[in-house]
Amino acid sequence: MIDVAGACFARTGLCYMQHAGACKARTLQAPSPRLPRPSRIPYNPPAMSNARVHIVCYGCQMNRLDAGLVAEVLRESGAEVVADPAAANVLLFLTCSVRAHAENRVFSNIGALAARKTREPGLLVGLLGCMAQQHGPDLMQRAPLVDFACAPGRLAELPDLLARAERGERPVALDPTRAGDRAEGYPPWRAFGTADAALDRLEVRAAETGAGPGQAYVRAMRGCDNFCAYCVVPHVRGPERSRPPAAVLEEVRRAVERGACQVTLLGQAVNKYRFEEEGRAWDLAALLEAAAAVRGLSRLDFLTNHPRAMTARLVAVFRNLPPVCPYLHMPAQAGSDAVLRRMNRGYTAAEYLERVAMVRQAAPQVAVHSDFIVGFPGETEADFEATLDLVRRMRPAGAFVFKYSPRPGTLAARDFADDVPLKEKRRRNQALLDLVGRIAAEDNQAFVGREVEVLVEGPSPQARLRAATGRSPWRTAGAERSPSASDLLPPASGLQLRGRTRCHRLVVFDGPPEDSTGSGHALAGREVRVRVEAAGALTLFAALLPDK
Ligand code: 5AD
Ligand code: SF4
Repeated sequence: MIDVAGACFARTGLCYMQHAGACKARTLQAPSPRLPRPSRIPYNPPAMSNARVHIVCYGCQMNRLDAGLVAEVLRESGAEVVADPAAANVLLFLTCSVRAHAENRVFSNIGALAARKTREPGLLVGLLGCMAQQHGPDLMQRAPLVDFACAPGRLAELPDLLARAERGERPVALDPTRAGDRAEGYPPWRAFGTADAALDRLEVRAAETGAGPGQAYVRAMRGCDNFCAYCVVPHVRGPERSRPPAAVLEEVRRAVERGACQVTLLGQAVNKYRFEEEGRAWDLAALLEAAAAVRGLSRLDFLTNHPRAMTARLVAVFRNLPPVCPYLHMPAQAGSDAVLRRMNRGYTAAEYLERVAMVRQAAPQVAVHSDFIVGFPGETEADFEATLDLVRRMRPAGAFVFKYSPRPGTLAARDFADDVPLKEKRRRNQALLDLVGRIAAEDNQAFVGREVEVLVEGPSPQARLRAATGRSPWRTAGAERSPSASDLLPPASGLQLRGRTRCHRLVVFDGPPEDSTGSGHALAGREVRVRVEAAGALTLFAALLPDK
């Protein structure tokens, strides 16, 4: 069973299946594997006892999860994964192509290794992830210091690639392209199937998921078929494939056994999850219901959500499944219907707001977060005003704002000139951030005086700064300083810790006295109760309460 009927969002001519107009493509699913217990999975990678690998990870949660797979597969082959780049003889860059800025950083960080490569001729540099797929073989010319490259779907082959690079080859492992796959006459996921199966096996074995202490990411889906006009992801991560529920649930169980109290299911549009087996059709609501039943799991959430695929059935999980956190990341991207149409988002501003209202009607406490892009081609002042208006109406608990960055190969880069000047993009970016901040600061006041549960991540950046410099961060003017923090509370007396509420709000509080001289990690990964004493736009300031 390969295909499950589902709405295709593409309507672009770039869709994998080349549907034109209002197409009805299928949502792809990987075949249901019989999952062996991880310890019984045979695996014979090439041995590489001398490799000391350091991984630099850019970009989204998917990449952090991939970093865990990279560490796992290399450790299995005998390599050591080291935290200090200076101690490494293999440097791996796990890259992001979503914006030009992210790519430029990688190119310049790799370029900066020139002197070290001359000093240490044995040093190997690998470029992994989305940039490898986006640039293809041209990459090796553009970045002559790169010794090998590997696309996101081929990470399970890393030991072989590294072994070849050690022999002096410059291997490049790419995923099939959608066009190439079509040209071969393959049914949709066959070209990706073998690599996906290897990744699935690796995913079950991997011990690290790239999330913080007490947390784990679990991949529910790979790829994306939405073809938002600005976005490179469908071009570099391949067609949308839902992973079998058995694999996802096994990984949730293992994460909890290893001590995670929070699990986040990941997909580029995870609410399109669809898997059919033995006559049963699984959607995300069904998957969440099964995951929520895993004993010991206290927090369950899912990232990220496409507004078009938000259903009343899914929204009901906020009400019906206690472990599901009251937090929903559902990017709007813009508030102007004309811009949304050009972005190929498939909804109007009014429809987006209806989805937000549906969520809040089912569960008023859900913190809805969004992403926005400013300066999309043709965005007028009136279009931007419409985005501000949407924000005033939806009142997000938080939002990421990005300046539009044209990406080669996308519809927007092909069809539209990048015609909003950078200065104007910057102004809109700041104006939107200011508005989001004002709204969040107002809404966060409702938390003052409340007791909330916090999953501790570790020392706050301010505490780390203080440890590094010996100065009190509260008195330090500069970029690292949180803008309103020092105005709200006196200097911290113990080690300041940070964590998140169930609704994903950031909380800082003084750790218990015995932590103030120690590592500060004693509470990391644990849930504690705090009382909120003050609130800013980005942060709640709280006091730790004794255990009940
Ligand atoms: N330019 C700017 N922002 C982008 N995003 C995706 N592609 C681009 C681009 N070309 C943003 C979207 C998405 C987030 C992950 O990155 O807002 O939700
Ligand atoms: Fe897919 Fe998200 Fe990119 Fe749209 S913005 S194409 S949903 S990854």
